[in-house]
Amino acid sequence: MDAFNDRATAATLIATRRSGKARDMVAPGPDAAQLASILASAARVPDHGKLFPWRFVVVADRAAFAERLLAIYLAAKPDAGRLEQEAVTQFATQAPCLVVVIASPRPSHIPVWEQELSAGALCQNLCLAAHAHGFVANWLTGWAAYDAQVLALFGGAAPERIAGFFYIGAPAKALDERPRPDMAAITRVWPG
Ligand SMILES: Cc1cc2nc3c(=O)[nH]c(=O)nc-3n(C[C@H](O)[C@H](O)[C@H](O)COP(=O)(O)O)c2cc1C
Repeated sequence: MDAFNDRATAATLIATRRSGKARDMVAPGPDAAQLASILASAARVPDHGKLFPWRFVVVADRAAFAERLLAIYLAAKPDAGRLEQEAVTQFATQAPCLVVVIASPRPSHIPVWEQELSAGALCQNLCLAAHAHGFVANWLTGWAAYDAQVLALFGGAAPERIAGFFYIGAPAKALDERPRPDMAAITRVWPG
């Protein structure tokens, strides 16, 4: 059995899931058909009220995204040094594939909280679907996820929110384990 993202069965894939690090991803990323399949799987998510309260933006022109992201960053922080600027550029250009998930709550009696939970579930589905196709994924946020101008770049506005930037590719380095919760500490049987 592979240590991580073992694709033998759905159960092993989930039990051994591990994100890749976006900065360590190399080609290949998904081709157009694989990405379409990954996004369709991601959208197959619990959704109270069938509102589809989320959407995807596939960032096809990474250099253009880097340029726009850096312009937004420098407008707010004109004194940003070289390392800071390089980090912004890296965020936009790292990994073979980048998809932005936008939570788009609809006017509805369904609480926004539930619609955003559906968006979060979609995000995890996206990661798992990428892993099921033999890639690794990485869900990142950072300042760009909370910046109204970045949201506007993707045609969004409040109450929409960027749920995350999803990088997909092949891992350049072996994955390793990270601390996992003590299941006994987070699980109770009620009544105790
Ligand atoms: C909403 C959300 C935002 C995240 N943003 C970041 C981030 O900006 N930077 C980061 O290093 N990890 C971030 N993470 C964590 C990684 O996506 C990843 O889950 C983590 O590195 C643990 O690895 P694992 O998925 O293999 O358990 C975020 C996770 C979530 C759920």
